[in-house]
Amino acid sequence: MPGIRKKALMKSPLENKWVLITGASSGFGAAAARAFGVKGAKLLLGARRVDRLKITAAEALKAGAAAVHFHKLDVSRTSSVEAFIAWARKKIGSRKSETRGLHVLINNAGGAHGLDTVAEGKDADWEAMIQTNVLGLLRVTRAALPLMPRNAGASIINIGSVAGHTAYEGGSVYCAAKAGELQITRALRLELLGTGIRVGTVDPGLAETEFSLVRFKGNAARAKKVYEGTNPLTAGDIAEILVWVASRPPHVNIDELIVKPIDQAAIGKVHRRKK
Ligand SMILES: NC(=O)c1ccc[n+]([C@@H]2O[C@H](COP(=O)([O-])OP(=O)(O)OC[C@H]3O[C@@H](n4cnc5c(N)ncnc54)[C@H](OP(=O)(O)O)[C@@H]3O)[C@@H](O)[C@H]2O)c1
Repeated sequence: MPGIRKKALMKSPLENKWVLITGASSGFGAAAARAFGVKGAKLLLGARRVDRLKITAAEALKAGAAAVHFHKLDVSRTSSVEAFIAWARKKIGSRKSETRGLHVLINNAGGAHGLDTVAEGKDADWEAMIQTNVLGLLRVTRAALPLMPRNAGASIINIGSVAGHTAYEGGSVYCAAKAGELQITRALRLELLGTGIRVGTVDPGLAETEFSLVRFKGNAARAKKVYEGTNPLTAGDIAEILVWVASRPPHVNIDELIVKPIDQAAIGKVHRRKK
């Protein structure tokens, strides 16, 4: 099996490349840090919970990351995003060579807050969803773009959702936010045409992370019910896809990727096994 052996020994295109992940303190972001770590990437991790970032960083380093740095980041505040990117710029150094620029930006920070109808909706929940999923993604992208090398296979991968494609009751603002993420991704791809910077969105369905715990404000029993009797996606499933998207040859752009568990045919159409 010389072919297989050769493939196993082949260098990953992500080795020693800088990868910046927002929302790396849990769920998809933390799993992505570990998965890019396995490929020998150099990681820049951000989120508000620095204690959790520290754990992710140790795991990613153990997995094989060439370097891991983390810094507090609140994507809902421009000043925090700018301080974070200034810190990232120092870590990366000049972007003169392909290996020194920011090779992958993963805009993952976000989530849902509440499941209220429009009639019952709370300002704080609406604002948190728009601030993170939409404005946060915009702020981080605007600040990080100057760090990304042109024509070197760099990628911006945004995390959307099936909620950006289909509305559901109680999901008005989350659906609007993720539909916004999708349209921002599409506009950005048009704007960056000719730069060689790839732009795509990975849009998951039901995945068991801290997502529902956050949505239901720490109500673990209610969060657990979302996944009851099903076999949802895991954070690791999404992380594997993110690594795959970022490792395509430089001329290949994965525009939009929808991924759902086999138990979910559509939002609200979920197969649940009885106990
Ligand atoms: N799980 C699902 O079913 C699902 C499906 C489709 C899409 N998504 C999307 O996937 C992304 C990741 O979610 P997840 O499922 O992995 O949930 P999660 O475990 O709750 O992770 C959310 C991450 O976002 C970070 N975050 C939230 N607000 C932030 C802020 N203001 N500034 C910086 N970081 C912030 C959190 O970190 P801190 O709290 O430490 O700041 C955390 O690391 C989100 O955009 C979510 O909307 C999830």
